[in-house]
Amino acid sequence: MCGIIGVVQKRGDVAPFLHQALKRLEYRGYDSVGITTVANGHLYMKKERGRIDEVHRKLNLDDLPGSIGIGHTRWATHGMPSMLNSHPHFDCKDQIAVVHNGVIDNFLELRSKLSARGHTFSSDTDTEVIPHMIEEFMNEGQDLKTAMKNVALQIEGTYAVVAMTTREPDKMCAMRDGNPLVIGEEEGVHYISSDIPAFLPKTNKMILLLDGEIATLSADGVEIEKISDATKVLREAIKVSWTADQAERGGFPHFMLKEIHEQPDAVKNTLRIRREVIAEAAEIIRNADRVYMIAMGTSGHAAVAGQHMFGSLAGILPVPELASDFSDTVYDRLSSRDCVIAITQSGETTDTIAAAKYAKRLGAKVVAITNVVGSSITQNADYSLITQAGPEIGVAATKTFLVQLTVLAQIALALAETTQFIDDYVVSQKRAGLLRLPEIVSETIARNEERARTLAAAYYDRPSFLFLGRGVSVATAKEGALKLKEIAYNHAEGYSAGESKHGPIALVQDGYPVVFVVPRDGTRSRMIGNIMEMKARGASILSVAERGDEEICGLSTQYFEIQTGVEPEFSTIPFVVPLQLFSYYVALKKGYDPDKPRNLAKSVTVL
Ligand code: F6R
Repeated sequence: MCGIIGVVQKRGDVAPFLHQALKRLEYRGYDSVGITTVANGHLYMKKERGRIDEVHRKLNLDDLPGSIGIGHTRWATHGMPSMLNSHPHFDCKDQIAVVHNGVIDNFLELRSKLSARGHTFSSDTDTEVIPHMIEEFMNEGQDLKTAMKNVALQIEGTYAVVAMTTREPDKMCAMRDGNPLVIGEEEGVHYISSDIPAFLPKTNKMILLLDGEIATLSADGVEIEKISDATKVLREAIKVSWTADQAERGGFPHFMLKEIHEQPDAVKNTLRIRREVIAEAAEIIRNADRVYMIAMGTSGHAAVAGQHMFGSLAGILPVPELASDFSDTVYDRLSSRDCVIAITQSGETTDTIAAAKYAKRLGAKVVAITNVVGSSITQNADYSLITQAGPEIGVAATKTFLVQLTVLAQIALALAETTQFIDDYVVSQKRAGLLRLPEIVSETIARNEERARTLAAAYYDRPSFLFLGRGVSVATAKEGALKLKEIAYNHAEGYSAGESKHGPIALVQDGYPVVFVVPRDGTRSRMIGNIMEMKARGASILSVAERGDEEICGLSTQYFEIQTGVEPEFSTIPFVVPLQLFSYYVALKKGYDPDKPRNLAKSVTVL
């Protein structure tokens, strides 16, 4: 969703950097773009609806003077995508510029009060109240920081706000409550952004800004304090292990394809998380009376697979729930004896953070699984496990899904060791199976990529698909369907094959594509029954099966093959890979950009 970047440096124009940094935030999803700089006592601004490259061709985003500036990519919530609704927004005198990510719930009331006092508004956004409120406080003699703190006391909702003014032209202020902001630190230059990749080519040193804090950035330094009581916050910079190369396409036509190819390494690096670190999370889970897994979208599918892993290996059955619906389903029946595992690759999904906060309020322990160090979820969790996928830029989650599954598998094995639900010998076999996965995923990509391209060419124009699995493969089927619908816009549903007879089968007629996920596990013979039912109704059967599984391949119109030796509980990890590739090539065949699906954002930071 909205992306923010701000830079303060001593000399040299910042606009070209802001432009490039906004390109690096494109993956968050947006519909308009804008940049403002301060120089010679004026604010200079260029903003417009549209993709950054189009807007740059029209307006030349590099051509603004000044060594201090802010930039923004907007994902519309209040007000249509348009030039006027694009950020930055100004006060009445064009002296204060503001960019914002989040939603100001009480903006209508604030706006009507400001209008009554003579302020004029040029957009339909909730954001525009902020520069006008700052203007009022500064007119009373307050400096920018104090004015922003007073704004924070009056606005309701969630926000990451960065503001600067011609009246204090050597600094900018940033505050947050509920939406992400990180500070980047380099000698003589400071950055503020919604996400690390924006400034990663310049520095990997970052300082976290937490909810309820305000930072003042100048070229020489950063000061952070609490908004509520002005307590100074001393926080060391930390070095992130991500590199700028990881956030570039590296020769691949799209981030999504690059990230699919990075999966073997992502899984391998995640398997290196120390056993003690995993064991600590497992201990919290094992001591709980009830365990929930909360997540959204692809991370929700990891939760579904996680339930099967925990159940079959450790005899612990967590309840997977949509984070967005969590408080509506548990009815406050949570206590300090319960544990909630929050799975979110970005660590910034508002639904998941809200559910984690809710769980904590009721006393439950929160264990977070996320890919981003210092992200909001880690600030709301009792214990965090950081997956090692590196930055994921493509909007469709791929490698972060595999690493979430890898961590859940590691926790399941740590739990199995203590619950003794399965023999130690079996645990060690499963552990060996987990270690084989990077190589199996690598082989899966090599073996299936060309086939995915061929099948995409044959099936891209089918309006609807069913994806079916049983047991842990329900998660694989659901994820395969989500990938196809989100980047290629074909209607697709992921179902339990058992449930398919109870409704979805009505869709099936001659040539209707049904994708079966069939690892060699206890569900296989029943899956064969489901394949027969679908064949009898004329379906085209596309399957993902183990190599050498002649029976499944013989029953299928087309198939993808996965190397033998996959432990059934972990089968989602390789079996989903051909489905990611299939969706990618269907999107390409249809002429869509798989990295930027319409209406979607990489991290969904509104409820
Ligand atoms: C799908 C996708 C989304 C996310 C969902 C949760 O490809 O990317 O469905 O999985 O928005 O995001 P995180 O994991 O960041 O909480």
